[in-house]
Amino acid sequence: MEFSIKSGLPESRKGGCTVVGIFESRKLSAAAATLDRTAKGYLASIVKRGDMDGKLGATLVLHNVPNIASERVLLVGLGPEADFHDKQYRDSVAAAIKALIATGAKEASLHLTEISAVKRDIHWRVSHAVTVARDVIYRFDRMKSKPETALPALHRLVIGVGDKSAQRQAAAGLEQGLAVAHGMSLAKDLGNLPANVCTPAYLAEQARELAKRYRMKVQVLECKDMEKLGMGTLLSVAQGSVQPPKLITLEYRGAGKSQKPVVLVGKGVTFDTGGISIKPAPEMDEMKFDMCGAASVLGTLKAVAEMKLPINVVGIIPATENMPGGRATKPGDIVTSMSGQTIEILNTDAEGRLILCDALTYAERFEPDVVVDIATLTGACVIALGHVASGLFSNNEAIAKELIAAGDTANDRAWHMPLWDDYQEQLKSNFADFANIGGRPAGSITAACFLARFAKKFKWAHLDIAGTAWKSGKEKGSTGRPVPLLTQFLVNRAARK
Ligand code: BES
Ligand code: MN
Ligand code: ZN
Repeated sequence: MEFSIKSGLPESRKGGCTVVGIFESRKLSAAAATLDRTAKGYLASIVKRGDMDGKLGATLVLHNVPNIASERVLLVGLGPEADFHDKQYRDSVAAAIKALIATGAKEASLHLTEISAVKRDIHWRVSHAVTVARDVIYRFDRMKSKPETALPALHRLVIGVGDKSAQRQAAAGLEQGLAVAHGMSLAKDLGNLPANVCTPAYLAEQARELAKRYRMKVQVLECKDMEKLGMGTLLSVAQGSVQPPKLITLEYRGAGKSQKPVVLVGKGVTFDTGGISIKPAPEMDEMKFDMCGAASVLGTLKAVAEMKLPINVVGIIPATENMPGGRATKPGDIVTSMSGQTIEILNTDAEGRLILCDALTYAERFEPDVVVDIATLTGACVIALGHVASGLFSNNEAIAKELIAAGDTANDRAWHMPLWDDYQEQLKSNFADFANIGGRPAGSITAACFLARFAKKFKWAHLDIAGTAWKSGKEKGSTGRPVPLLTQFLVNRAARK
């Protein structure tokens, strides 16, 4: 679908469909009122009759509206005016796009952006309209023998932005919205692909393609290289699998050499069986999503490169399967990490931290300004925060604040969790420097505490996306999170420098 922006009043447009909003008190939005004047009160009469109650997300398609050039008018309920904030704006755009797809309209103009009740600038409104629209029309039918649903006829969306003075901000919003949408789409595709297709080698191939398309530097380390570097913990996870592990590095240089990079480290477990500490069968298929951290790193780099952001970003992806087998790591095995610290692996299902810790040590060589790792790390995080917020842990207050703020702007929220040393005691081991699990209490915190032991040399944050990276049930599928958060974080940093 193509997007464009246009200033001007709604009634002056010919086309497939004009979309305007109605508040719950039967109040027409400004755009709806303008249209209504041309239509000689037709819209107001429909609302008065009770056919459109203005409840958030309600929709009504009208044909042959008097004096209106457009073939259709779509009324969208906005809910109470006083409650119309970020979420309501995004929900009403989503409802509009769903209703538009149900019509045969090939193109439409959307007039929800002008609603003044949203306390956001035009840049935000346009960029969110684009990402929401792309989210609604996203399909993953690459693995079906033939597509289940016909592609929507809708192929062009014109976003109305009121007066001309808003054009420049709107254009920047459109650019960011598209870049984020493309990044999310890549992340979703990679997450949704089954583990027999999306292997560590496949992720490496994707990274190579990104590098070629956007002129980034790419490097893929093989088993032998990892052995030389002493990546004992990463290799201990990989050794049960016949799929060779890969350590993928992508470097985007949008700023001068002297600027220290932001390093993004993404957990790339392409399938997590649990290893010898094997997982129960129900829902185990969802462990194909255990590489969503990696996918979000690739998606974010794509977005950043598409926007040509003036900032340096390095992506590091440790990629492997976690399988049981004759060579697999056994509970009680002790391995030495690249940092030299020894670890007693009491549960082979706590594998994410084992691959991330070596990747964090490896990150040191890029002399990072800050390192952010992103991982579907713990079931405990899902219990703590559900599917709404990602868990955020950091050894630096300022970085935590930046990430929280970016998540708020991007509608991809994270919640700051504690990382006090008191929790470190749970990782004590009788035989090695420490263990890879800390028992059931505060499971997402002890996982972060484990990682913190490998992040002492730089500012670092960890995002546990176990509850936010994908949806289960009828709508099973990757969400593309936290590409919006990470991209916004980098956009903010690029603007600051
Ligand atoms: N990939 C899982 C975490 C996970 C589980 C994410 C369920 C989403 C849904 C991770 O590797 C894992 O298995 N973690 C264990 C850690 C435990 C053994 C300390 C967990 O959360 O159960
Ligand atoms: Mn696991
Ligand atoms: Zn895992």
